[in-house]
Amino acid sequence: MAVETETGTNGSLVLAVNGERFELPTIDPSTTLLEFLRSHTPFKSVKLSCGEGGCGACVVLLSKYDPVLDKVEDFTISSCLTLLCSINRCSITTSEGLGNSKNGFHPIHKRFSAFHASQCGFCTPGMCVSLFGALVNAEKLNRLEPPPGFSKLTVSEAEEAVAGNLCRCTGYRSIADACKSLAADVDIEDLGLNSFWRKGESKEVKISKLPFYNRDDKFCTFPEFLKKEIRSGIFLDSNKYNWYSPASVEELQSLLKVNDIRKGCENKIVVSNTGMGYYKEVESYDRYIDLKHIPELSILRFDQTGVEIGAAVTISKVIETLKTENKHQFLPTDEIVLNKLANHMEKIASGFIRNTASVGGNLVMAQRKHFPSDIATILLAVGSTVDIMSGYQFERITLEEFLERPPLDFNSILINVKIPNWASIRKVSPENNTTLLFETYRAAPRPLGNALPYLNAAFLAEVSPCKTSEGIMVNHCQLAFGAYGTKHAIRAGRIEEFLKGKLLSDDVLYEAIKLVRTIVVPEDGTAYPAYRSSLAAGFLFEFFSSLIDGGAEITNSFLDGSGSTSLLKHSKPEQKDDQYYQKKVSKMLSSSKQALELSKRHYPVGEPVTKTGAVVQASGEAVYVDDIPSPVNCLHGAFIYSTKPSAWVKSIEINPKSNPGGIAAVLSFKDIPERGENVGAKSVFGTEPLFAEDVTQCAGQRLAFVVADTQKHADRAANCAVVEYGMEDLEPPILSVEEAVKRSSFFDVPPILYPKPVGDISKGMAEADHKIISAEIKLGSQYYFYMESQTALAIPDEDNCIMVYSSIQCPESAQIVIAKCLGIPEHNVRVITRRVGGGFGGKAIRAMPIATACALAAHKLHRPVRMYLNRKTDMIVTGGRHPMKITYTVGFKSDGKITALQLDILINSGFSPDISPVMPHNIFSALKKYNWGALSFDIKVCKTNLTSKSAMRAPGEVQGSFIAEAIIEHVASTLLLEVDSVRNANLHTYDSLKLFYKESAGESLEYTLPLIWDKVAESSSFNQRVQMVNESNRCNKWKKRGISRVPIVHGVLLRPTPGRVSILKDGSVVVEVGGIELGQGLWTKVKQMAAFALGSIQCNGDGDLLDKVRVIQADTLSLIQGGFTAGSTTSESSCEAVRLCCNMLVERLTPLKEKLQEQMGPIKWEMLIFQAHMQAVNLSASSYYAPDMLSTSYLNYGAAVSEVEVNLLTGETTILQVDIIYDCGQSLNPAVDLGQIEGAFVQGIGFFMSEEYLTNSDGLVVAEGTWTYKIPSLDTIPKQFNVEILNSGHHEKRILSSKASGEPPLLLAVSVHGATRAAIKEARKQLLSWSSQNGSESIFQLGVPATMPVVKELCGLDMVERYLEWSLGSNK
Ligand SMILES: Cc1cc2nc3c(=O)[nH]c(=O)nc-3n(C[C@H](O)[C@H](O)[C@H](O)COP(=O)(O)OP(=O)(O)OC[C@H]3O[C@@H](n4cnc5c(N)ncnc54)[C@H](O)[C@@H]3O)c2cc1C
Ligand code: FES
Ligand code: FES
Repeated sequence: MAVETETGTNGSLVLAVNGERFELPTIDPSTTLLEFLRSHTPFKSVKLSCGEGGCGACVVLLSKYDPVLDKVEDFTISSCLTLLCSINRCSITTSEGLGNSKNGFHPIHKRFSAFHASQCGFCTPGMCVSLFGALVNAEKLNRLEPPPGFSKLTVSEAEEAVAGNLCRCTGYRSIADACKSLAADVDIEDLGLNSFWRKGESKEVKISKLPFYNRDDKFCTFPEFLKKEIRSGIFLDSNKYNWYSPASVEELQSLLKVNDIRKGCENKIVVSNTGMGYYKEVESYDRYIDLKHIPELSILRFDQTGVEIGAAVTISKVIETLKTENKHQFLPTDEIVLNKLANHMEKIASGFIRNTASVGGNLVMAQRKHFPSDIATILLAVGSTVDIMSGYQFERITLEEFLERPPLDFNSILINVKIPNWASIRKVSPENNTTLLFETYRAAPRPLGNALPYLNAAFLAEVSPCKTSEGIMVNHCQLAFGAYGTKHAIRAGRIEEFLKGKLLSDDVLYEAIKLVRTIVVPEDGTAYPAYRSSLAAGFLFEFFSSLIDGGAEITNSFLDGSGSTSLLKHSKPEQKDDQYYQKKVSKMLSSSKQALELSKRHYPVGEPVTKTGAVVQASGEAVYVDDIPSPVNCLHGAFIYSTKPSAWVKSIEINPKSNPGGIAAVLSFKDIPERGENVGAKSVFGTEPLFAEDVTQCAGQRLAFVVADTQKHADRAANCAVVEYGMEDLEPPILSVEEAVKRSSFFDVPPILYPKPVGDISKGMAEADHKIISAEIKLGSQYYFYMESQTALAIPDEDNCIMVYSSIQCPESAQIVIAKCLGIPEHNVRVITRRVGGGFGGKAIRAMPIATACALAAHKLHRPVRMYLNRKTDMIVTGGRHPMKITYTVGFKSDGKITALQLDILINSGFSPDISPVMPHNIFSALKKYNWGALSFDIKVCKTNLTSKSAMRAPGEVQGSFIAEAIIEHVASTLLLEVDSVRNANLHTYDSLKLFYKESAGESLEYTLPLIWDKVAESSSFNQRVQMVNESNRCNKWKKRGISRVPIVHGVLLRPTPGRVSILKDGSVVVEVGGIELGQGLWTKVKQMAAFALGSIQCNGDGDLLDKVRVIQADTLSLIQGGFTAGSTTSESSCEAVRLCCNMLVERLTPLKEKLQEQMGPIKWEMLIFQAHMQAVNLSASSYYAPDMLSTSYLNYGAAVSEVEVNLLTGETTILQVDIIYDCGQSLNPAVDLGQIEGAFVQGIGFFMSEEYLTNSDGLVVAEGTWTYKIPSLDTIPKQFNVEILNSGHHEKRILSSKASGEPPLLLAVSVHGATRAAIKEARKQLLSWSSQNGSESIFQLGVPATMPVVKELCGLDMVERYLEWSLGSNK
């Protein structure tokens, strides 16, 4: 058969990666490009983070060569979804391929590094390649020559290039700046802090200092050897790989027929396999049939009747063509329709997905598997048709019929979809007084994409002015809704019928919206059903309402793409103001400012030095645990976890039918060595078992550890494990704090950690003019979402020893736990940690079981064992932030001064103690930021049947800060006072601060909050903007703004830390510290400190000491007592430990230096060290910094002003501007601290606004990936982001006067929540004004996170109906 003999002379799979040839004689066809790159090539820059197309860590540039046109096409793709066989004879460029430490770095790498755009670095190679892809393609465009050193990219293209890439560390501002620095239209003055420029330098000098981007230096993305091979016309041997690439419909038919004959032979039809990102099939198939090479499926044709799009055409290609193709056959209105379709498609997924995802694949997913597709909805509204092939039959049906049919069988093929040339068919034109209106809508957690919509819609209407009266007549309309929890997108036929021939009026619209409510009804089990249906009402209103009053003005400019402007016509008299305030909010970060004061006092400490290792992180050469090559015989592990919170585990088996093979062992608690213990984690408060024993303690608890030959096999085996549970004689699980209270299920809090009440609560309450009694707040959890998931590699060694590489924040504790579990002495266990791809607290206690499980398996099987948790398992087993319930009673005066606060707090800690007993202390440390008069409380740390909750960046403090703000807002609402004035009235004086914080309050001069509070008001023009916000709200019905200023006080604690500094013979310096580099810049600060402290010896030419220092990985047997890297202070403690070591060395070297100086005059560092070695001076010094007991804790201060705009129809919150001032003392490195401030703040935005870490009724986490868990992305950060680092001068007791920056700024994000609340309050006020109902608009609770559904619900799910009722009533 033709297709089966499609074999060339060789027929092997050949690829070029970074110019190198790779030939793969055999490969499993389900192998992804990512698996291949990471396991068969030396290129490890390609990172696995989500494995489902949602993060961009795995992005590479794919280049294809067309031998006929002699042309190379380059585009970015997600390597985690791309099947290797589908890219035969293609070329791949990874970040190492752009440049590296051997051949020199690419300007992109250098800019990412010097703009401080890489912290943990795990996202950075993917970011660099995404930007490079945009750069390469911009250079191909016929655009004006950019100035030298710049590319043809525009600023917005540069930002959009990385819009689909997630970063959990930086907060994106610095990344945006690094990208924009290459754009031709960038205003160099708009770029943020970097280490190329000095203050006050001219534009020209600044440009000259940027690493030069030479456009003539053409980067070769496609090697000549591969072009030659392609020209020789060798195809892949289909039989060898079970991969078939039919080149015609006939070949495809034959292949499918073969399938019919060979019953039981499973085919997988693929185009680009991105559907796997959603459906994650684990089955393997007998044969893969790739549709990309069939001309009919790759067609994209425009003619008089419309646009025909072959099913295999990619979404990017459709967008590009719809936007740029010369559509001379089309009327302008049709062109606008096509442009709007393209604009909508730009919000689907992200660039690197759209570049390969096919339109047909999308429609088939929608048809067959009810995928919430955008394409189905928008193409439905324009009346598209599809061609289908079943066997040898072809048929053309409407898209609507296609969607409504039973699922397409696996031998049927979608050939194409056709968009009709609508206006031409209907003869819509100004001459016959008809106009075509078209708009598409989408409400999704991220405005620019990579988030599935809660609902999408597209409306097409043919309208004309009414001949007999004023107004607009609907001649015909097509209304499509989808993705709202329905099997497939639908046409709202009943509304279409209803509107047909109607003169538009509020009345008619009201009736149409009533109909929408009966049609758009999400299926049972859909989240937020009422919200979704309210979106449908809102969008329909938005589309038609503008035609009611302003209809006479319809022109084509109405269809200019800014659909929402139509709403403004409702407020005609106020239109002028509208225009002022409604100027389009930019899609991305539009500007930023960073202000800092440098101090040379401890040079190079205090300099904004580039992060150590940033450039190798960018090029992808930095080695993370999973990048360490597997030792010979290495096995891979995966956890089998419980899905029941409390059940007997009767048996655990791997389903033989789906067993992937390669399994070496399944270990459980029964495999713990005789002298060992079933322990997987520990803190000072207790331990957590490695595996559940007879009864599970939570859903998500580790039950067993499958060990197999590959990670894929281990994951699949764990996935198909069958656990038999029993429920006999078990008490029901405790899943809520209320239940825990009922059953007295608590963890003890040591008295020393239990916070102390302040003042006399009865007296405070008695002084109050008003009281709020027993109000309640509930707070949910948050997941870490470090980009590198949990990982470890354990290697058995001689004599019962074991070495474990672990991505952990506390290797010392892992060492102790492993020793305990294996029943061996601690000196047998060496734990090594070089760098961690983001931790945020989640790789402290929660990383220990991963290291321990690998160690146990390695110990038992005498083979190396590694594990890289897949994202889903990581999200399910890891834990996260503590949920809690707060009940408060507060007494206050009529002027807003609070006199007493009584709180009852129930903290949900999960099943093991972890660090939970410190939570009461942490919550109160941040809550006490206001002077509550008297403060008393009862806090219980509840033990429940949930995964153990652990430290997450600012654990407890962020909740404490939020609770304080919620109470302040409640008081203000009750008194009808401005919230800001109530905040003001309750800020501490120094005296009250001392009363609440005792010793940690420090000296009065150190209390900088009042200064910061005023300064931020001034720098952000707070008072003027409050007026502007009020004015904007007066003028706009459908968008409300809010502004909020918030202070923070955050206590931190210094902990003992070891250090060692050794000077080698050539003068280079090796530093070891207890602290771990998590991306927070610890190594950089340590290096600076070493250079500063050693520099005090004052050798000749020791200015470059900084370059001589290398900080090396933590090793628990080399440097003991490493402790935890947590609580924001490890950098400063590590610095101090290093300073003590350096001082010892300087003391040892000084006599020699003086002697040599006398003999030889000024002496160089290298000479001094050489001589010291010769004279047997001990050049290695160790120290253990133990902070002075009286000054171990201190307070950090900051304030932020945030302004937001809420879209009342969708509940979407846009953060317009944020101004932060944060006191860093004398920053050890302002660039690093700035990165910490911005990154923490954006992580806080995630907690307060978007991250829903949901569980099912058994407590099993159901937000298990990027599809459902939405961390902030570049398009959701503040549009203007201004940060000032306050240098508050000399602090006697602080390490070189510095203060912490890692966690406290996260608390400032509560200001975004407060601003959102203020905007909602305005919406509610307006809503009340439309109804005759009484009520208080201002007293309400805004949940956390304030997601779109939450916000919309508070603004009124029936808002448009209420408005129309009011409008109809007032017009009667
Ligand atoms: C991270 C991410 C975000 C996304 N976000 C969105 C979004 O916001 N909105 C949206 O609409 N979509 C979204 N998508 C879906 C995306 O559009 C689809 O995954 C993509 O279009 C599928 O195309 P493909 O070529 O990769 O199909 P494949 O994955 O190769 O195929 C998908 C399915 O269709 C079958 N198939 C493919 N083509 C045909 C054909 N011609 N005839 C018969 N069967 C066929 C395959 O067998 C398979 O079952 C997202 C996808 C990802 C990965
Ligand atoms: S790992 Fe591929 S997109 Fe996340
Ligand atoms: S630097 Fe981006 S994820 Fe850490």
